[in-house]
Order: sequence, then structure tokens, then C-alpha cells
Amino acid sequence: MDSQEINVVLHENRTFPPSKAFQDKAHISGMDAYNALYKKSIEDPDTFWAEAASELHWFKPWDKVFDDSEKPFFKWFTGGKTNLCYNCVDRHLDGPNRNKAALIWEGEPGDSRVLTYFDLHREICKFANGLKSLGVQKGDRIAIYLPMIPELAMALLACARIGAVHSVIFAGFSADSIKDRVLDMDAKFVITGDGSWRRGKALNLKALVDEAVEGVDCVEKVVVVKREQSDAFTCSMKEGRDVWYHKLVKDQSQNCPAEELDSEDMLFLLYTSGTTGKPKGIIHTQGGYMVYTYLTAKYIFDLKPEDVYFCTADIGWVTGHSYLVYGPLANAATCIMYEGAPNHPDNGRFWDIVEKYGVTIFYTAPTAIRAFMKWGDKWPQGRDLSSLRLLGTVGESINPEAWMWYHKTIGAEKCPIVDTWWQTETGGAMLSPLPGVTATKPGSATLPFFGIDAAVVNEDGKETEAGLLTIRKPWPAIMRGIYGDPERYKSTYWCKWDGEYYFPGDGAKVDDDGYFWILGRVDDVVNVSGHRIGTAELESVYVEHPSTAESAVIGIKHEIKGQCLASFVTLKDGIEESEDLKKELNELVAKKIGKFAVPEKIIFTSDLPKTRSGKIMRRLLRDIAEGRALGNVTTLADPSVVESLKCQYSED
Ligand code: WTA
Repeated sequence: MDSQEINVVLHENRTFPPSKAFQDKAHISGMDAYNALYKKSIEDPDTFWAEAASELHWFKPWDKVFDDSEKPFFKWFTGGKTNLCYNCVDRHLDGPNRNKAALIWEGEPGDSRVLTYFDLHREICKFANGLKSLGVQKGDRIAIYLPMIPELAMALLACARIGAVHSVIFAGFSADSIKDRVLDMDAKFVITGDGSWRRGKALNLKALVDEAVEGVDCVEKVVVVKREQSDAFTCSMKEGRDVWYHKLVKDQSQNCPAEELDSEDMLFLLYTSGTTGKPKGIIHTQGGYMVYTYLTAKYIFDLKPEDVYFCTADIGWVTGHSYLVYGPLANAATCIMYEGAPNHPDNGRFWDIVEKYGVTIFYTAPTAIRAFMKWGDKWPQGRDLSSLRLLGTVGESINPEAWMWYHKTIGAEKCPIVDTWWQTETGGAMLSPLPGVTATKPGSATLPFFGIDAAVVNEDGKETEAGLLTIRKPWPAIMRGIYGDPERYKSTYWCKWDGEYYFPGDGAKVDDDGYFWILGRVDDVVNVSGHRIGTAELESVYVEHPSTAESAVIGIKHEIKGQCLASFVTLKDGIEESEDLKKELNELVAKKIGKFAVPEKIIFTSDLPKTRSGKIMRRLLRDIAEGRALGNVTTLADPSVVESLKCQYSED
């Protein structure tokens, strides 16, 4: 975080109070109600969370709401038996929601599918029975590498139903990345598809899975979903290992009892980047995650029976898990799921979807909003967006300019904007306005959700105006650990403040109204278009190349993506710099991680700026890359490195 950023947020004084019309109908009736409930949630969390959990179905009630006996491995609703899939689907079958649209899916080419809660139940049961027939058992890890098709949502729910642990791998990851994850989670099963459409082009997924699981002994079966009855996608099936999904489910019963699972049974793993080269498998469990995503979805999106809710996130990331699938379905919402790119066949595709289905709640990322701004107002203005009543954003701080555009051009100045701050590790939204309650300020995630004791503190844990964001009390959806690496969980998230407070890795500022302003990551994680990429992951890819000696990867500002990557690479003696070598390095990153992680810029340098103890000074690299005056260079081992780098960077 730098002083420039703090200044920008300090000068943002505009405030947008909720409209009376919205407030009159909102779940939480206003600031007094919020304050009272917030107070209760902090002072008496057991009662607060017990009441929230009671809105859901439990086969057996919990013995204890919260258990911190193995701190920081917290447990919630211990002794309780429940099932998240049951709560997302079966719970809605006995009443008016039985025939309500649960999932409205829009394919990129324009094909569509509507699944009612009854339909969804049938398809999930058949899927779950199919998985069981292959030998899937409670606790087995299932890697899911699917595009945004309905079967992806069903796959999650089918796993949750039988207690199998799903781990979705975003369909942009390379074969090598799939393999790393499959090995780390020791997956017995993989669910994938033959392909998908992206900007009118056929994406073939199966070949990547074939490459990834070749020679991997733990994988017994690969289930393959056929995207459509056409030859668009090439796909070969391996005898004895690969199974077509449509054949697997064809004769299965449409009833599959939901397993009565322990509240602390594992629900999913989701890999995310950290400060080392190895991604972390974040663990979430059934009960606490269910209660938290249910309640946050209900209040933050103010879900009403008639809403049509459109979350543009891919289910490959946590937003898709919590706020496309689990949270909204637990609330019996109607959810839109879109397969493809926002600019296909033209830049108005999202607005076409809003118009076509009468979307009332729209949740997207700042990077998308900046792209819409760049494409121009004519796209949204050419569509009827009058059904919208609430907007949301997630993934990074939204710059006030983009916020204002969203507010005016998409929200017609009448829709509240909920800027939700959270992480894969937190399971659900932690800081966010409540619509109809919180007066919003462009760029601020405003106030904590119920039960969230957030603060901005210094290294000593004392509250301060600008510093590190921390959460001082556990909440039901807090991660339960890192798969296979409990020590890393402790050393990453509980490394500060005597292990008493959770450390999310973000810098923040708090203003006079107690509003939070997120200033970005304070570790070596870069947020590219809302996707977390660990710079160490790229650095470890570069050192695998025979020509490179050393590298340092940093995140720099980018107009649309928020941040992008720049790599400084030193070559081994005798190796010539060349465009071909840059290309090779980029290809290596695409192969090892995925195309989305390829840096914007590679700069070859004879040396990297280091302290006398040999630590690379990334801050200086960022200053050089963003053209800022250089800060203190006196600690450098060789100050001349910086001058030559500055010249090289400006030439590139
Ligand atoms: C950043 C995505 C500012 C933050 C849900 C966090 C945000 C990381 C916001 C988690 C926001 C997410 N304002 N920053 N509203 N939302 N972030 O795990 O740095 O993919 O630590 O979860 O994104 O990214 P993740």
C-alpha cells in the first residue's frame, strides 16, 4: 500500500444514503436495526448464530454453537447433522418454490436451460447416484474441471449431497496446474467436460485433463460431460477410466437421500495462491459455511422471492461457490448462470441477459465494470435495465470513478451498490454495505457483517487509521485449514498479534464513520482481474527454465485489470536476451499455470536490486515500473543496479 492510495481514498467524501423506497422493503429496516443486531452478534454470538442456523434444516441439532478448544482450528455447530445440498434444494420442494426456477442457464451461443428446484433435485440425485455407482464414498476428493454449464453447479451439489469433497479447478488452468492440485488432494475422481464456448471459439478441456492425469495413480475414473450434441469439441475417451456423464446418469434413480453429515465434515477444497510457489487447498466444512453463506446472501443481496439474481463470477473461484451456488440456492433464489464472455457476440451481452430475464440483482467485479466503461455507454443504454434494483461488486477495491459509472449508467442512480470484501479463506462476505441500511461511499466496503469483529491495526495489534486489516473473532465460515498442511495455516493466518487475530493479508484504512477502505494486499499476492496470483508461483516457473538465473515478479497498476504482472528476469552467463526467449518464458508460464497468469511485461536485467542481506527489493521494482520517484535506496547492496534498470524499463 502506498501513500498515494491512502490520499485517494481520503479525498472521497461523497455519500449515498439508501432511498426510502428501498429501505421500506429491505430485510434489515435501517441503521438502528443493523446496530442492534450487530451488537448482539458480537456480544452474544452463540445466540445470534444459533438463530441464523435455525432457519435451516438440521437432521440433528448441534450440541455446541462454537468450539475453540483447538484454536485456531475452530469448529461450529459441533454435533449437528445437516446437509448443504438438502438445504439448497430439498428444503424448497414442499412449498411454493417447488416449481420455481432455481437455475437459468444461458449458453454463449444463445442456447439456454431452465431448471426448477424440482428439476435440480432430480438431476442432482441422478448425478449423485451415478457417482456412487462408480464407487464414490463420503470423504473422497473429487476434482472438477468444468466450464460454466449447469452440470458444474450440479456437480458441486451432488458431491455435497453424498459427502464427497469437491475441489473445483478454474477451467483456465493448465494441465500442469490440474495435475498439481489432483496430486495434492489425492483425488480419486475427476469430473470434466468435452468443451465449452468462449468468444465463439470451441475450448477443448478433455485433452488437458488427459495430460494432467496421465500416470497419476490416485485417479480411478474421469466423468466427462458432453456440452452438446455436436462435433464442435474433440474428445477421446480412455477405456476403463473415462465415463460419459449422460450414460452414467441415464438409468439412475431420481431419488438419492441426502447424507446426514456432521457439521464439521469437509465440504470442499479450493486452491488459492499464497506467498510461496505452492497453492493452498483451503478447507471449508458443511455447517458453518452453510449458515454463513445463507445469511450473508439473504441480507447483503436482500433476496426476495421474486428476485432474479445474476452473479457473473465463474464457479472456478470462491465467489461462484458462495454466491452463485450455495448462498442464493439456500435462500431459494432464482440464479442466472452464463457460460461465456461478456463481449460475445458484442459488448452488450450482460445487458442482453439482464433484459431477457428481468435481472433484479447484478453482482460483478470492478475489472468487468472498467471494461464496460471503456466499451462505452451505448451498450447498456441500448437495453432495458429497468428491472435492476441492486448492484454488487467483489474482487478488489472499486475505484470511485468506476463506482460512479456503475451507479449512474447501470443503476440509474436508484440501485444501492454493495461492495463486498472477502476472501476464499473467509468463505463469505465480511465487509459490505447492507442495502437499504448503509449509506455508501464510492470505493469503500463500508461496515462489517454481523458477527465480524473487523479492525485496522498496526503490527502491535493497536487500532490505527491506516494499517493492516484484521478480524478479531472467528466466524462460522472461517477456513478450517490448509489441506495437508496445518502448520502453514497457522503460520500464514495466525502469525501476527500472538495468534489471537486472523490476518487476511490486506492493508486497509478506517475513516471517521468507521468505514473500511481496502488498500490492497500487503503480501506478494497480485490481484489480476480479481484473480489471485502469487508472484512466487511465477518465480518458481522461471527458475525451471535453463536460461534463467533469477527472477522477481511484481504487480503493477493496470487500467482494466486493476493490477497486472511484470517480471524482471536475469539470465545465466552467456545467454543472450531475445524476443524468442521472452516468448518461451511466456509459454512456460501458460503451460505451468495457465494463460491468464502470463505477465504483461518481461524485463531482462543483468541484476536485481537487493539489500545487503540479499533480499530482493520489490518496492523499488514497483517504483521503477510505475514511474515513481525512488524511495530510500541506501540499503541497497549495489545502488547502480537501480539506475540501469530504470533506463532498461523505460526503453521496453
Ligand atoms: C481482494 C475473492 C477490495 C482482497 C472473494 C482479498 C477485495 C482478495 C474485495 C481475496 C473488495 C476481494 N475490495 N479488495 N470488495 N474483494 N478483494 O480469495 O485483496 O479470490 O484478500 O476472494 O481479493 O481474493 P479471493
